[in-house]
Formats: sequence, C-alpha cells, structure tokens
Amino acid sequence: MYKIAVIPGDGTGPEVVREGLKVLQAVSEKFGFKYKTVEFDYGGERYMKTGEVLPDGALEELAGFDVIYLGAVGHPEVKPGILEKDLLLAVRFGLDQYINLRPVKLYPGVDCPLKDKGPKEIDFVVVRENSEGLYAGSGGFLKKGTPDEVALQEMVNTRKGVERCIRYAFEVARSRDRKQLTLCAKTNVLTYAHDLWQRAFNEVAVEYDDVETDYAHVDAVCMWMVKSPENFDVIVTCNMFGDIITDLGAMIQGGMGIAAGGNINPEGTSMFEPIGGSAPKYTGKNVINPLAAICACGMMLEDLGETEAARTVDSAVATVVSEKVKSLSVKKMGFSTTEVGDLVVDAL
Ligand code: IPM
Ligand code: MN
Repeated sequence: MYKIAVIPGDGTGPEVVREGLKVLQAVSEKFGFKYKTVEFDYGGERYMKTGEVLPDGALEELAGFDVIYLGAVGHPEVKPGILEKDLLLAVRFGLDQYINLRPVKLYPGVDCPLKDKGPKEIDFVVVRENSEGLYAGSGGFLKKGTPDEVALQEMVNTRKGVERCIRYAFEVARSRDRKQLTLCAKTNVLTYAHDLWQRAFNEVAVEYDDVETDYAHVDAVCMWMVKSPENFDVIVTCNMFGDIITDLGAMIQGGMGIAAGGNINPEGTSMFEPIGGSAPKYTGKNVINPLAAICACGMMLEDLGETEAARTVDSAVATVVSEKVKSLSVKKMGFSTTEVGDLVVDAL
C-alpha cells in the first residue's frame, strides 16, 4: 500500500492533479497495486487565510509518505517569492530532494519549434542539482534602499552536494542506451564554484568508464539545445542553470503542457510535479493541458518501483499526443482538461 501525499496547490494545479489521479486510479486497477492518498491544502489560498505557508510539523508529516504529488505553486495575490520559498523550496530542501530530474523528450506527432528536429533528435534528461547553489538563500543587503546599497546572493557549492548530484547523473547515464553525460557549467567565469564541479566530475568519471563524458558551458548548451539537441543524452548542472535550461528544454519537447519533473531524494521522499506554473488566467476553465501532470504521475510510479505501470502511462501519453490531441497548447488541444485525462485512461 503506497502512501501518496497530494498537494494540488494553486491555480490550475488542482485541475491537472485531478487528471493525474484519475490515471493513477486506472493504472492501479490494471496492475493491481494499492495506494492511499492524503490531500494537503498548502498554497496561496491557505496562506491568505492563515498567514502561514507550511504549518509546524508539515515537513515531518510529508516525510512519512512514500511520495508527494504536487500540482502548482504561485498565487496572483501573494507576493512572488513567499510560496516559492516557503512551500516548494522548503519541501525540496527540507526533505533533501537533492536531484531535480527533468526529461526532455519529444513524442512523435508533437509540434516542435525546431526545424528538422524530431523525436530521434530530442531525447535527453537534465539532472539539476536541487539543494544548493544560488537557491541556498544565502546572502543579504547592506545599506538597503540607499544609493550605496549592496546586495549579495551567494552561490553555495559543497563538495558533498556536488558530488552526490554528479554521481546520480552518472547512474542515470549508465542506465540509458547512449551512456553519455555532459557537464553543463561555466568554468571560464565561475572559477571557484565550477572548478569544484569540474574536479568532482572528473574524479567520479573514473568510476564510470562505460559512460562517455563531455563538457559544455551553459551558454553553449543553450545554443546546442536549439541547433543540435541530438548532442545530448544526459546533462548534469547546477540548480540555477538547470532551472533555466529546462524551460528551454520544455519548449523543444512541445511546451509546458507536457514537461514534468521529479524532486528526488534517492534515500527518502521524492516529489513529482508538472514544471509549468499555476497559470492563474486559465484556472477553473477546464482548458489547461494535464499531460505534464500525468507524465509527473508516470515518473512517480517509476520512483515507487511500478516500472511497468510507469511505462504504460508513458505510452498512453505518447498515443494520445500522436493520435488524439491537436496541439499541446492551452485552448488548442481540441479537448478539455478532463477529456484529455479520459483519453489517457482509455489508451492505458
Ligand atoms: C521550477 C520553478 C521554481 C524554481 C520556482 C517556482 C521557485 O521555476 O521548478 O523550475 O526556480 O526551481
Ligand atoms: Mn523553473
């Protein structure tokens, strides 16, 4: 019996999570596994009512689940930064979900903005460090609000944090057919931080002689992702660069409507989410694309060890995008949110 914490969150989060849970229900019946969900109302609405984002003990409680399924975080009436920091980042950091795993895979039949590129060229995975870097929240102001103001935002790179991320990426690369890993950094400018990354990468690489390694500066990675995405199999990178290149990745795989990710603690409780935001203007209209949330549910099944079920969800999504929906964009799918969920269930 799997214990799943569900945080539908803000905006369109609840709508897409509902479709993901619909698929989970159907696939559990097909494969005969049991699970129990507990829903948490964390998000903007709760914050505005109570003034708190996560109550005391919330992280301990979430840590007691096998996995967490998250919809979206971000509320138009809450100042940017509060929910992001005290909910999303608090869970990522608090549960030490030190990997952010983001597959960039173009399914057959999906429109891609890149000319002459198809599913054969766009199939890689980004392993983003998820517990430190520029996201560590270290820094401060001096003389705030004066002409002499100083703002410092420190990039924290620990040998332990960097090495465990790189090691995880090598394992991901080893598990794939191509077995190729690219370090994406900026060693020519971040001569301390990314020197550490480069050294850790080179040292861990010795243990993985079956994995081919490569290096590219982050600006060049952006260029290649557009020009020759087939260069990449697995990319490992720091938190901030990973955030940026995975939005670019989402665009070349067909948009935010399909992009999913996992915040992974390989030894603890992981959290799966569609990587797009809460899309306030589409909230409650039954128009948002639930496929990213459904793909996140597939990744969650993989994490639970339900490999067959995960694969089945993935191929159902592939069938729906190639044979049914007209576009992955909001209002252009040719189907409503709930109908797309039904199509996936039918294709299981
Ligand atoms: C993401 C998001 C978050 C991030 C924000 C909402 C804090 O952009 O999951 O990529 O920067 O990690
Ligand atoms: Mn992002």
